[in-house]
Amino acid sequence: MPEFFINGQAVQAGDDQTVMQAARANGFFIPYFCWHPNLSVPGNCRICMVEVTSEGAAEGSGWLDIACNMPITKGMRVLTDSERVRARRKETLQFITLNHPVDCGICDKAGECTLQDYHYDYNGAPSISIDAKVHATKHYKLSERIVLDNERCILCTRCVRFTAEVSKTHALGVQNRGDHSLIRPVEDGAFETDAYSDNVIDLCPVGALLSRRTLHQSRVWYLKPTPSVCPGCERGCNIDVWHRKSEWKLHALDPKRNARVDRVTPRENAQVNGPWICNKARDLADVFGRARADAPMLKGQPVALTAAIASARAMISAAHRPVALVSSWASNEELESFQAHLGTRFSRFVKADQFAEPGECVGDTLLIRPDKNPNTRAACTLGPLLPQDPKAAFAPDTDLVLVWGEGFSFANLPPRAKVIYLNAWLQPENGHADVFFPLSTMLERSGHYTNFEGVVSGFEPCFAKPAGAADAADLFPMLGAAP
Ligand code: SF4
Ligand code: SF4
Ligand code: FES
Repeated sequence: MPEFFINGQAVQAGDDQTVMQAARANGFFIPYFCWHPNLSVPGNCRICMVEVTSEGAAEGSGWLDIACNMPITKGMRVLTDSERVRARRKETLQFITLNHPVDCGICDKAGECTLQDYHYDYNGAPSISIDAKVHATKHYKLSERIVLDNERCILCTRCVRFTAEVSKTHALGVQNRGDHSLIRPVEDGAFETDAYSDNVIDLCPVGALLSRRTLHQSRVWYLKPTPSVCPGCERGCNIDVWHRKSEWKLHALDPKRNARVDRVTPRENAQVNGPWICNKARDLADVFGRARADAPMLKGQPVALTAAIASARAMISAAHRPVALVSSWASNEELESFQAHLGTRFSRFVKADQFAEPGECVGDTLLIRPDKNPNTRAACTLGPLLPQDPKAAFAPDTDLVLVWGEGFSFANLPPRAKVIYLNAWLQPENGHADVFFPLSTMLERSGHYTNFEGVVSGFEPCFAKPAGAADAADLFPMLGAAP
């Protein structure tokens, strides 16, 4: 554990730590572009320059070096913000912005761009170059999901290293040299099929890599992140769901834009997903943007919630052999509510609400899991999984089935059983149930999921639920009460 000094303060460092790592661990700020805690260290951007003096050397005899690749030696003295350091960072920024366009006004990265931030922190001056800027490709379609602006690229190679070291597709590289250098995908289409490709959008320190699905849709300062959990598979990656701030609601445009998922980014959790997520989480707007069911129904006819509850209660009380198909998208709180109020009344099986789509990555060794439901592990504390042949779950005299959530074909129902159906989405089955209850989604309530390894993660509400929808955890006590 060598002791060294940062800005005159004694700091204990780990044996293998670099100056960058020790500085960050002890609350000292050093700027960086190419360095990332979860990638290799190329040391190419030079913005992390600090002033270093060896133990025992005279004051002022120090040299400038990059913090991200410098091992610590006992007694060394590091200055992170001296005049020499600031002057070198200013030169570095003059160099990095030599051919960089003045695009901030139309760039989606504005508000989150470290080049913009460091420019104002360390440079702030117009370019001293008298040469015309070198132009490069703008709006290059890197994949169906991502657009690349080569003029904005500062060649930090984070994106290249991500595909080489994390997603392991080796799908990006640098073509040409000098100011002709371009980030380009390899020609076998590996980037197109990289299930983790959108992580390079977050990794890019500038606005060179942008999402095509969110391009120019919103300024980041109009949005706020709500902590959530990706329901795309049993990994349960921790995410931030970004949506419009209440003070920036739109009045003139489509009101749905005020209650939609604008983007999804990873929320780092070392126990679950580290700093990454797969592309499926980025597309959650498609899952949660589907048409919603918003009225309770009796055999397809909309009724008041009280009437639907009274009918369902009567059916539950009269049933001789009721079976419940428990949702693997239900939260731990909803599962507890079901167990407390209806658990002893029903035989229970856990069903998958979602299955892998054709062409979807079924599973890999990084994050993606074959079970495409977030809470199967917790749901299975209520009962076994539904058999491969769902009909095998029903005894011949099953006279009531409570179906909770999507993913179950009504063609597998016992022919004479009555059906209580609870679901959030507008689907044909809703009208075929004897009693139907529209539910809230996980973006409209708080709760927890337990992932396949037993790690519990929480989610918070982003939006209000539709007027007619109920939270399942509130519904079960009413269904469990005597008619
Ligand atoms: S595209 Fe972005 S992440 Fe990739 S090298 Fe350029 S600046 Fe770095
Ligand atoms: S690995 Fe699973 S939980 Fe994680 S982001 Fe992808 S689909 Fe969501
Ligand atoms: S962060 Fe150290 S050289 Fe780029």
